[in-house]
Formats: sequence, C-alpha cells, structure tokens
Amino acid sequence: MRVVILNSPDDVAEYAADLFTRQLTRKPGSVLGLATGSTPLKLYEKLIERTARGELSFRRASTFNLDEYLGLDGTHPQSYRYFMNRALFDHIDIESGRTYVPNAVSADPRKAAEDYEQSIREAGGVDLQLLGIGVNGHIGFNEPYSSLGSRTRIKTLTARTIADNARFFADGEFQPNLSLTMGIGTILEARQIVLLATGRAKAPAVKDTVEGPVTAKCPSSALQLHPAVTVLLDAAAASALEEPAFFQHIEELDQALSTSISDAAS
Ligand code: F6R
Repeated sequence: MRVVILNSPDDVAEYAADLFTRQLTRKPGSVLGLATGSTPLKLYEKLIERTARGELSFRRASTFNLDEYLGLDGTHPQSYRYFMNRALFDHIDIESGRTYVPNAVSADPRKAAEDYEQSIREAGGVDLQLLGIGVNGHIGFNEPYSSLGSRTRIKTLTARTIADNARFFADGEFQPNLSLTMGIGTILEARQIVLLATGRAKAPAVKDTVEGPVTAKCPSSALQLHPAVTVLLDAAAASALEEPAFFQHIEELDQALSTSISDAAS
C-alpha cells in the first residue's frame, strides 16, 4: 500500500485529481470506479474545474459506481444516481449512457447484481477505483463481516451506517436499510485503487485498514492484498497510525525516485 499523508482535505482532493488526470491522459477510454459520500466531493469539484479548463476529458471514459440504495430510483434525491448526476456527471463531458450505477429498482435485484458484474467485465474491467471508507471500515456498502471474496449483491446496512447516513435524509423520510453494492472481490479486481479518508472520525478505521490484520471485521483491510492501492489521508485521518513517519519517509523516497527517473528519461 502506498500511504500518502497530506496536510488538508484539499490536498487530498488535489492529489486524487492528479491521479485521475494522469489515468485519463494515459488512457482516454478508461473505466473508472466511483464513490458517493462527502469525502469525494472536493475531488469531483476539481475534476469539473479541470474539465472546464480543457485539461481533462471524460468523453471516452466509462464509470461504474460502487453502490445504490435498494428501492431508490435515479430521480430520488437520496439515490446515488441522483447524487452522481448533481456532483459530477451533469458538469463534465461524459456520455450519460456510459455512467453506470447498480439498478436498485429492478424487479429481480439478484439478476441486476449479476448484470452489473457482466457490464463491468464487458467494459474491460475497472482501471482506477475510487473508494471512501466508513468509520467501521466499510468500502462500498461492504459492512464488517462481508466476505472478502464477495461480488455485487444485496447487502444489509449496519445500524451504524444507517445512523451515519441519516444526515442526508429529512426527518420522517424513508431511509433504506438495504443496498446493492459491488463486492470486495469485485473491488479488488480493479487495476488500481485509490482510497480517500479525511477527518479524525476515520482515524481508527484507517489504522485498521493500513496496519491491522486482514480481517472481515474491517472490510477495507482486504486492500492490503491488492498490489496497487494508494491511500490518501489528511493529517487528522492519519492521526491514529503507529508508523506515520515511516510512511512519510517512503513517500519522500518514492517522489525522489520518480523525479530522478523522469529526469533521466528527458
Ligand atoms: C459510497 C460508499 C461508502 C462511503 C463511506 C464514506 O458510495 O462507497 O463506502 O465511501 O460511507 O462516506 P463519507 O465520505 O460520506 O464519509
């Protein structure tokens, strides 16, 4: 795992925006895995700004979102499709037919889950997968004790996640407790993964992800098994790590190495 500790949430978003820009420059038809939630919003703003400045184009890209609330269609303001349209898709040059979110209103959600996996395969697999992390270590809606080999499926949300997400729902509004989510096995098939975490509330989950054992109790710890994961943290999210100095040292060496490689190539 490459663990990068940055000063602020804005620095985290800027670093992530650079990764997406590099990916789309190298491969304009990239398949991107996307997440909802508060954490990626700054990143999405930066991607919108860069697209407006002509530094970036999604014209040939496809996107697959991690998850959707079961039973909410895309016109529901709390649906993740609605969120993604508002936060990103409506403001960039992507073809809407190539933005995929699990179909959570299908009469047969199990079939919808299989179809989602099939669509990812047909697109050629995810090149760069963006993740946030829940305070309990969930990624997508893969809550603690999810199988580390799980595929896209219906998943029950924990009371903790329902409480955390209640802030998005009005008093008395129906809040689903089921989701359709990519599985951990699905996520681990992405060629490259970037996980963003900001704020002190995420610090214990970040510590378990990076330094803890690989365990279904902390689903994000499965990322240790993947060969190309970058974990981008602000100082608050990194505050429970036992070895921050080590990660900072490695990152400085990596930066120096890539500078000397690019100097040698030019
Ligand atoms: C949402 C998702 C979730 C969130 C996580 C953190 O698509 O995949 O795993 O990333 O719940 O949410 P925030 O960023 O709101 O703290």
